[in-house]
Amino acid sequence: MRIDIITVLPELLTGPLDQSIIKRAQQKGLAEIHIHNLRDWSTDLRHRRVDDYAFGGTAGMVMQCEPIDRCISELSAQRHYDEVIFVTPDGETFNQHIANDLSMKENLIILCGHYKGIDYRIREHLITREISIGDYVLTGGELPAAIIADAVIRVLPGAIGDEQSALSDSFQDDLLAPPVYTRPAEYKGWKVPDILLSGHERKIREWEHEQALERTRRLRPDLLKED
Ligand code: ADE
Repeated sequence: MRIDIITVLPELLTGPLDQSIIKRAQQKGLAEIHIHNLRDWSTDLRHRRVDDYAFGGTAGMVMQCEPIDRCISELSAQRHYDEVIFVTPDGETFNQHIANDLSMKENLIILCGHYKGIDYRIREHLITREISIGDYVLTGGELPAAIIADAVIRVLPGAIGDEQSALSDSFQDDLLAPPVYTRPAEYKGWKVPDILLSGHERKIREWEHEQALERTRRLRPDLLKED
């Protein structure tokens, strides 16, 4: 799959998306991430500005239509995009279901906002999906875009060496993950549950499932409610 991210702060994205599993997924050819500096589509050759004052006297700057439209048009002329996503606190709240759904797409654009927001006409005419990463406001959409790209790419088949481990993540089946332990079996008197050392595969899986259910009931009962 391919993800194109449009931003005024490309430096904020290159670091987080060039590490560990996400870096390896790109090296393996499973995912391509292309980061575009919106200023390259500015109509202001001298200062490369992409924002202007808000109509109506509202305080704060607004990102202009034209650079965003030019950038998205240029990308869309080269391939079909399944979604043009705008990351914004008033979008639908991101979760594992959305990550899984997006991971099945071929090409995605993620547009990062800044300042007071983007000219609303872009949202009305070019954006197909608006996603928030939670009920709080960040200074820009770059960290949300990096979070979405990370969550989407890590569930691509082959991105994680042991594929089983993506399937057993918290949230993958609407349950929190069970506890995990490693050697030594006893540390400072703190013991690993006996069942995990028993070698009894079926009982271990049952225990993990019970633990997942118990932790979900206790910590996130909302996940167990029918939608
Ligand atoms: N931009 C600023 N805050 C955000 C949030 N919580 N989610 C997505 N985009 C944002």
